[in-house]
Amino acid sequence: MKTRITDLFGISYPIQCGGMLWIATPELAASISNAGAMGNLTSGNYNAGDDLKNAIDQTRALTDKPFIVNITTMPSIRLPVSLLQDYFRICCEKKVKAIEIAGAPVDRFLGQEFIPMAKVAGVKVIHKVGTVKHAVHAEKAGYDAVTVAGFEEGGFPHKDNVSTMILLPKVAEAVNLPILAAGGMVDGKSLAAALSLGADGMMMATRFLATKESGVHPNIYKTLIEKNEYDTVLALKTLLGGLGLQVRALRNEIIRKIEEVEQGGGDLAALLPLISGERAKAVWKEGNAEEAMLTIGQSVGRITDIPSVNELIPRIMDEARQAVQSSMAKLGIKRT
Ligand SMILES: Cc1cc2nc3c(=O)[nH]c(=O)nc-3n(C[C@H](O)[C@H](O)[C@H](O)COP(=O)(O)O)c2cc1C
Repeated sequence: MKTRITDLFGISYPIQCGGMLWIATPELAASISNAGAMGNLTSGNYNAGDDLKNAIDQTRALTDKPFIVNITTMPSIRLPVSLLQDYFRICCEKKVKAIEIAGAPVDRFLGQEFIPMAKVAGVKVIHKVGTVKHAVHAEKAGYDAVTVAGFEEGGFPHKDNVSTMILLPKVAEAVNLPILAAGGMVDGKSLAAALSLGADGMMMATRFLATKESGVHPNIYKTLIEKNEYDTVLALKTLLGGLGLQVRALRNEIIRKIEEVEQGGGDLAALLPLISGERAKAVWKEGNAEEAMLTIGQSVGRITDIPSVNELIPRIMDEARQAVQSSMAKLGIKRT
């Protein structure tokens, strides 16, 4: 298969894993890359440049295929701007295939010199956007591609609540960059739809969380199978609205407490113990899905099994071909 995304990344199938804090490790990244798609190593898993360097080396020991490194450019006490700048430099020195930026644009958050630095190193830079305006900025700033994420997505969707169905074709009409569709993508039907709407590939996260290689606790796998499209909520608009963001997470005990604090006008100090990343880190491994804010997309409603990555990728490609053939038949187009 050949699209602007397979060409840009040098991969066989136009499927990328999204950044996933604590989940997108060398093991998961390498298994996805080895299956012909684009694995993601999430820099937020690490607290120092040397740890990220080791993780890149570890991923390279597990695969000789390309992978992408996620750098989430949001204000953070644990991951200050100076460390994110180091991470970007390390990705350029190590010549990883691509960097996925999520949050504020590199040129504004890290500095004007960073996109040119990646160009000199031959490293592609991709921005995850939730508005047409941000996609247009990414093109002007020199990014190589954009990921268009509707508010179905798990993690930190834009506060405007625009769905992938609307945002994706609008961005595809507004910029001339390779595009990955994200938010609600789980299978070959998603891929076929994304390509029809103007994308060159798709990015998924919740679907990859629900694979054997993510290594989460069996109770989490059970939760992912049992929960439905109405079991996630949007929260933290009071805290993140200023950044243009909010969070989409599983509806659970902690989210109910977060909502109480937000409705009562509670500040960051009151929210921090509830939203701490350390809580989620423990829950993915220990399995009590009520005890942390778990970023999960509406796509959870379409997840019914826990395949291995090696089963998942070819299955998606088969489903996509079937979906396109079925659409062609409905349109009265005969196969040649
Ligand atoms: C468990 C999990 C952790 C995530 N962590 C991050 C992160 O650290 N940085 C980031 O940019 N996005 C993060 N996201 C968001 C994803 O990269 C992606 O944008 C989104 O989940 C896509 O929607 P989907 O889950 O429906 O596929 C996370 C998503 C999940 C499910």
